[in-house]
Amino acid sequence: MITNRETGTRMDEVEAGIYRISTPLDVIPGGFTFNSYLIADDEPVLFHAGYRKLFPTTVEAIGKVMPVEKLRWIGGSHFESDEFGALNEILKAAPGATPFASEVGVLTSINDFASRPARALKDSEEFSIGSRRMKWLYTPHVPHGWDCGILFDQSSKTLFCGDLFTQPGADMPPVTESEVLTASEGMRGMMDYYAHATSTSAILERLAGLNASMLACQHGSAYRGDSAALLRELATVIETGNSKLSAPTPAASA
Ligand SMILES: [Fe+2]
Ligand SMILES: [Fe+2]
Repeated sequence: MITNRETGTRMDEVEAGIYRISTPLDVIPGGFTFNSYLIADDEPVLFHAGYRKLFPTTVEAIGKVMPVEKLRWIGGSHFESDEFGALNEILKAAPGATPFASEVGVLTSINDFASRPARALKDSEEFSIGSRRMKWLYTPHVPHGWDCGILFDQSSKTLFCGDLFTQPGADMPPVTESEVLTASEGMRGMMDYYAHATSTSAILERLAGLNASMLACQHGSAYRGDSAALLRELATVIETGNSKLSAPTPAASA
């Protein structure tokens, strides 16, 4: 469903009760999508506040599913503008909402940036939002950011994987069952958004072990399929394929 014709923002239910709100922006040749995911439940979660300038369209889309003031949690994978830029505007619109991020993210950024104190999630911490049980996995530097973490909905086996498997392009289907590694490797060739930390493979293997049925990517399509195989393939490519990449160029953050 297109929720704003001017910006091209669309919202699609990619899994029961999980809505992908996606806006294309012309930040790289061919365009690029910025996604937030709304997880409907007793305590609704917005995973990624999105850019501050996208606040009106993000809130407009949320309003198609529920009143924005019902939001209970607003979180993000790591602290960059596309993850947290609109946080304070949304906190203002949703007085009962609490921000959340990794402990490092809260310590280094969120508790200074946010207008209200944030919840700092420990690695492996679980919390219920009603019918769903969420789990937080701390994934430092994967794909980038000391503070990086990933949210897993254990009930639907949806992995809100942030910038992992970032795919370029403005007109991306909400969900794809075709592998997204080739596209995300193309993106990595264009601008290498990985930190290449020593723990990357171990973290990707840990994520593979979750056997998620959906990868809810922040940029590009959500992927439905064998996420474990795709994560393991990514680990192999990162370990062995760096020489194939062109030199990174400075550009908009992923
Ligand atoms: Fe990022
Ligand atoms: Fe991002």
